[in-house]
Amino acid sequence: MENKEEVYRSFLSQLRGLISDEPDRIANLSNAAALYMQTFSPHWVGFYLVQDEQLVLGPFQGPVACTRIEYGKGVCGKAWEKQTLLNVPDVHQFPGHIACSALSNSELVAPIVMQDQCRAILDIDSTDFNHFDKVDEEYVNKMAELLSENVF
Ligand code: SME
Repeated sequence: MENKEEVYRSFLSQLRGLISDEPDRIANLSNAAALYMQTFSPHWVGFYLVQDEQLVLGPFQGPVACTRIEYGKGVCGKAWEKQTLLNVPDVHQFPGHIACSALSNSELVAPIVMQDQCRAILDIDSTDFNHFDKVDEEYVNKMAELLSENVF
């Protein structure tokens, strides 16, 4: 059985193939979310796009989610403010966490930054506590970088 790093490497190579010849942002983010869901089966995976000083829900896979998040609010708004990846092992302990789904217990959020500006947030939720490890952090950052170079 393949280890998680190998699965992530293959995932990134498939993602690169899917987005490299397609200029449409929504099409590419939609396939990025679908490919992540198909590969890793999280509870929720998707994007929030920075629009007019708010995060607005973009392409995603999983249950219905909150549509708008303010700067600095929740895990997503905090990752936007700090422009850094946040790995939250227990979302119930995170001050101001926004519970879009009662089933979500841990969360990994990566900003998609271009020319020092955060353009979107990649958000992944799990029903497990402490689901995401250093390998997820490393490769989800790589996924955000790939999207910042090819999609934004
Ligand atoms: N929990 C997030 C909100 C987005 S949903 O998880 C899809 C947050 O605290 O920012």
